[in-house]
Amino acid sequence: MQILTFKQGTNTMNNHTQMVLVLDFGSQTTQLIARRVREAQVYCEIHPFNIGIEKIKAMAPTGIILSGGPSSVYDDEAPMIEKEIFELGLPLLGICYGMQLTTHLLGGRVERSDHREYGHAHLFIDDPDQIFHGLSTDVPHQVWMSHGDRLEELPPGFITLAHSKSCPVAAMANPEHGIYGVQFHPEVAHTEIGEDVIRNFLFRVCRCEPTWTMHSFVENTCSAIKEKVGDRRVICALSGGVDSTVTALLINKAIGKQLTCIFVNNGLLRKNEAETVLAFLEQFNLDLRYVDAEERFLSKLKGIEDPEKKRKIIGEEFIFIFEEEARKIGQVDFLAQGTLYPDVIESVSFKGPSATIKSHHNVGGLPEVMKLELVEPLRELFKDEVRRVARELGMPTELIMRHPFPGPGLAIRVLGEVNRERLEILREADAIVMEEMKRSEWYFKVWQAFAVLLPIRTVGVMGDERTYDHVVAIRAVDSLDAMTADWTRLPYQVLATMSNRIINEVRGVNRVCYDISSKPPATIEWE
Ligand code: XMP
Repeated sequence: MQILTFKQGTNTMNNHTQMVLVLDFGSQTTQLIARRVREAQVYCEIHPFNIGIEKIKAMAPTGIILSGGPSSVYDDEAPMIEKEIFELGLPLLGICYGMQLTTHLLGGRVERSDHREYGHAHLFIDDPDQIFHGLSTDVPHQVWMSHGDRLEELPPGFITLAHSKSCPVAAMANPEHGIYGVQFHPEVAHTEIGEDVIRNFLFRVCRCEPTWTMHSFVENTCSAIKEKVGDRRVICALSGGVDSTVTALLINKAIGKQLTCIFVNNGLLRKNEAETVLAFLEQFNLDLRYVDAEERFLSKLKGIEDPEKKRKIIGEEFIFIFEEEARKIGQVDFLAQGTLYPDVIESVSFKGPSATIKSHHNVGGLPEVMKLELVEPLRELFKDEVRRVARELGMPTELIMRHPFPGPGLAIRVLGEVNRERLEILREADAIVMEEMKRSEWYFKVWQAFAVLLPIRTVGVMGDERTYDHVVAIRAVDSLDAMTADWTRLPYQVLATMSNRIINEVRGVNRVCYDISSKPPATIEWE
């Protein structure tokens, strides 16, 4: 079972007047619950189910949502909560397992089942006054179910709000105490009335105000940064990606020249990448130090083929250079990082963190090495919220919607040894992939697209001559969060144009392949 847990230390910048607490019981869709709440402009946080009643009280949430989860309330190790949670006088919504747990703890009966109901179902609303306010009782509503056990007997004081063919109680309430439960998942897109149910809970039951906007986020965060930093200095590693750029722009807005940004060109960037980013940043009057470190990185990578070794070398070299630059600035107390909310609520299994598949270290080691305190203004945000902040700060769509780019850059897309010649081949091929993705308007439809240079040569024929040249693979994937991904069904014509152009325009390439593997079992990057 996956339970979301908090990484050590919190660095929250805002004080929220209203906060909805989402307790996680291991559902795949817990983060979606939080996103739906935030889309309704209500701030919310996800915490593990077992944080304890005292912490919950201390957080003073406006309402509580219990997520779904894969367990049965009768399992030996079923995740439980203290019954006291229902006596706090706070509005509460239990979703799926959350509703079964509510039922079980409050004296109702959940029937154990050994088969799951999974997929679409029709929901019939019996009581439109509560969380179904404004929804029709005359027609069935399409909802998404994923449960084994089901509720057989309501707890005392509860009424049925809705039923479905297989669930006599598909939604319930104790209106007097503001406690609600739904067997379906309102957070997933397949539940058409999901947004209404969540909004009714937030605005009618919890009486929240829709005050969580990106405009208010920018204002509050800037004041919080000023307060935290005072007159001390902050450094920030700028990569040109949306997270680090928004981090830098927010801090710059708050404290101006007390922030120094360091842009390390490791020689592993895409074609024209450094130039584009620097040109955009010019207007902001940042204290920006540009370090051309191509030579240093490439000499360290000479002869190295192992992907993990490459990552390690790049991560360490970055830290060396960053430290050198920081020393030139003098006394620095803070390091700015573009940590996002999904990194904070990292998924770990009950039996401990899952195995490292690839080490993602960009600025990871810096705070310990340099004894710096962290400033993480994006720590509360999901990626789509960061993009909205970016818009608020005036970043152009082109930069905001840039595909994710790995810290080790093209080094993990040049398979095998990384050198100037091979990087140049990849850069040219990759630029063609990007151009054609944009020209065909597929760029914004996919999660990520790029070219990979394979460590083999194959035979071809050009004119009358035999060639023995490089192979480029094209990768394009659809994904919501990079945890899983499917290869994009790009139209043949787009692939044909990319292939023709790469073979004709990039010297040294005579073959192009399209990667048709999903994650899992493949990963998005090849190394
Ligand atoms: P994988 O290859 O693990 O990639 O399926 C998932 C997502 O993470 C990106 N990625 C990285 N990002 N540093 C990063 O900042 C890294 O070392 C790194 N490796 C992979 C990858 O591009 C994809 O979006």
